[in-house]
Amino acid sequence: MRRMPALLLPILALTAVPALAAPSLPPGPAAATVQSVCTVCHDLNRIVEGGRSRREWETTLHMMVNAGAPLPSDQFAPVLDYLATHFPERALPPARVIEGTVAIAIREWEVPTPGARPHDPLAARDGSIWYTGQMASLLGRFDPERGKFHEFPTGAALAGPHGLAEDGNGAIWFTANFSSAIGKLDPASGQFTRYPLPDPAARDPHTPVFDRQGILWFTVQGGNRIGRLDPATGAIRLVAPPTPDAHPYGMAIGADGAPYFVDFGANKLGRVDPQTMAIREYILPHPESRPRRLAIGDDGIIWYTDFPRGMLGRFDPKSGSFSEFSSPSGPRSEPYGITIAKGAVWYSESGVRPNTLVRFDPRAARFQSWEILPSGGGVVRNMMATAAGDIVMAESGVNRIALVEVK
Ligand code: HEC
Repeated sequence: MRRMPALLLPILALTAVPALAAPSLPPGPAAATVQSVCTVCHDLNRIVEGGRSRREWETTLHMMVNAGAPLPSDQFAPVLDYLATHFPERALPPARVIEGTVAIAIREWEVPTPGARPHDPLAARDGSIWYTGQMASLLGRFDPERGKFHEFPTGAALAGPHGLAEDGNGAIWFTANFSSAIGKLDPASGQFTRYPLPDPAARDPHTPVFDRQGILWFTVQGGNRIGRLDPATGAIRLVAPPTPDAHPYGMAIGADGAPYFVDFGANKLGRVDPQTMAIREYILPHPESRPRRLAIGDDGIIWYTDFPRGMLGRFDPKSGSFSEFSSPSGPRSEPYGITIAKGAVWYSESGVRPNTLVRFDPRAARFQSWEILPSGGGVVRNMMATAAGDIVMAESGVNRIALVEVK
């Protein structure tokens, strides 16, 4: 996707040739505004194919304004009316819930800034819940004991914060997705530090994770790179995976201490040699698999969400064997954020209404699941276990964060 500053708008309007396959908008009082304002950074497909409720359109519009959409404030209400009327909620497959014996409680909180789009959560060691407000370029810290939020604006140089990782000193590191940099926040002083990626091709830094030596590893999705940052020196090294357009996405540290990642652009996962950065690829059995995120247990078993096929995948790097399990809500369930808590695999089905939280017991090979209510989930792009085995979630489309108590 192109990202263009609003300043380019007049130039674009002069030079733009009519796009060949551009969808046309139904007539209405705000159609012209949508046509001009909403095509600055991406095409209209996201709108035409992205039916949603009025409430969700309102959140989306706040997100776009936060991202820099040049929407005059007196046009907000007419554009909202237009979108809600012409692009209403799509029919999504219903959630299929599987009963079981584990009890959970889901608590949700709306974050302070409208349209922040909480993308990734982090369970910090002090019990606080952090989130990236990707579209509003902020990091948020929430204290669940006192119910208090504090938001830290990153500034334009670290725009589009995406994934989060905490270092041994309690500093919060993140991928600045829209500005090709890694950022670090010292929560005590509120000071940000910026580490620009050394290669202009390394667009779209995505998921960061610390290894046991304190090295920060990260995927660079659009730029097709794997990155390594040494916090002691600030030095960054980047390597390209062997597969072109692999779209390296989720990343986690294996039982052998090496970073593993999944390709959202290929049916592959990879292991990075921590010393040489050589990448070894493993091919998933099904050619249409597109693993989106992964979680790794203490036993070294890798669990991944196969988003387009509605599958939970399991890979044993020791034996090289794969197995797959059909997600409870079926092939269109879009399994996404995943983690391991209290010995079980947990993930969200993001393509069903409402979204679900799914638990998979690896020993019994048994599923249990719950609807994410009252919010409906709003696409849980990532989740993380707390030290106590509870789960934190970011609910991007409904502007909330959640804490799941696992009883
Ligand atoms: C300044 C750039 C910009 C403009 C202008 C803009 N958008 Fe976006 N839009 C984005 C970005 C960035 C994303 C999200 C990219 C991603 O998924 O990481 C996005 C995503 C979306 C999505 C998908 C949201 C989701 O949760 O996946 C919709 C729907 C959308 N835009 C609608 C609109 C509408 C309606 C307008 C006009 C009012 C608009 N956009 C104008 C930058 C922009």
